[in-house]
Amino acid sequence: MDSTPPRKPATVICCGQVVLDHTFRVDEVQAPPSKTTARGYNLGIGGMGAHAAIAVVRLGGRALFWGRVGDDEAGAAQAEALDAEGVDVTHLRRIPGAHSALSAVIVDKMGERAIVTYRGDGLSPDPSWLPLDLLAEAGAVLTDPRWPEGSHVVLDAAAAIGLPTVLDAEKSEARILRDLVPRVGHAIFAATGLSVFGGGAPPRESLRRALASGPLKMVAVTRGEDSTLWMVPGDDKPREMPAFPVQATNTTGAGDVFHGAYALAMAEGQGIEAALRFASAAGALRARDGATPDRAMVEALIGTLIAA
Ligand SMILES: Nc1ncnc2c1ncn2[C@@H]1O[C@H](COP(=O)(O)OP(=O)(O)OP(=O)(O)O)[C@@H](O)[C@H]1O
Ligand SMILES: [Mg+2]
Repeated sequence: MDSTPPRKPATVICCGQVVLDHTFRVDEVQAPPSKTTARGYNLGIGGMGAHAAIAVVRLGGRALFWGRVGDDEAGAAQAEALDAEGVDVTHLRRIPGAHSALSAVIVDKMGERAIVTYRGDGLSPDPSWLPLDLLAEAGAVLTDPRWPEGSHVVLDAAAAIGLPTVLDAEKSEARILRDLVPRVGHAIFAATGLSVFGGGAPPRESLRRALASGPLKMVAVTRGEDSTLWMVPGDDKPREMPAFPVQATNTTGAGDVFHGAYALAMAEGQGIEAALRFASAAGALRARDGATPDRAMVEALIGTLIAA
């Protein structure tokens, strides 16, 4: 169960979504028509790839973020926030005239959330500027479905040099997931993403189809406070990685942190089961605290399993 970080930090390249999250805390998310007073407000970085990149750094790795923002205020704030977290933003591209992505995140007192995302405007999908030669310096790559053209070329170039690849298979259009999943080594679905991918088939069947769709090494589906189901080639039915029991205060970003932690574990050469445990602990702490944990916190939580 050792997940001690290696002496030289492992590098993860995160290619995908960055969003500026406006988070409102309310007692209850009310159905419209309604007016609700927020109990608290926070402006912070969000988006699968960006959140995951921050998690990689907090957990002791080195992260490069590849993605697109506009040349507006939100884009500047996104670049600044990632840089302040220690993420390499040399290849965060600011696209002239484009609008950056934004979200309104409404979190209730149980820590559950409703999210409205504006995916930006004018963020050219052209991936031809991506510095693919830098993949040779990385230990793993993580992509998501919000910039499919970028993910597509990054996954293919990484596969060509045998680099471990991870996909955050979040809810997206079915055609996007069906294009990306067969290109990746480790596809980790959100429950809604798996349902879209499998056309509503039961999780076990959808995971089987995902595993059979390409040379995948592992498929999984995260299910919040319930266990993560996962399969490797040759498995007939899913295995279970239990979730760590915590009192959740804000589950936003738990999935993003889970994926960042898993990709870092791959870059460090951890095995699949150890990586899933490491990621589950990181995701649980994120849900408990509403903040991304550091390595020592994750190690301590994993340690409670050994002590038990
Ligand atoms: N309430 C919780 N208690 C314990 N662990 C949790 C909880 N919520 C999330 N986690 C951990 O984080 C992982 C990812 O969470 P979840 O399945 O909610 O991601 P998601 O649906 O992709 O959501 P998002 O990407 O918006 O965070 C879970 O598999 C689990 O390991
Ligand atoms: Mg998610």
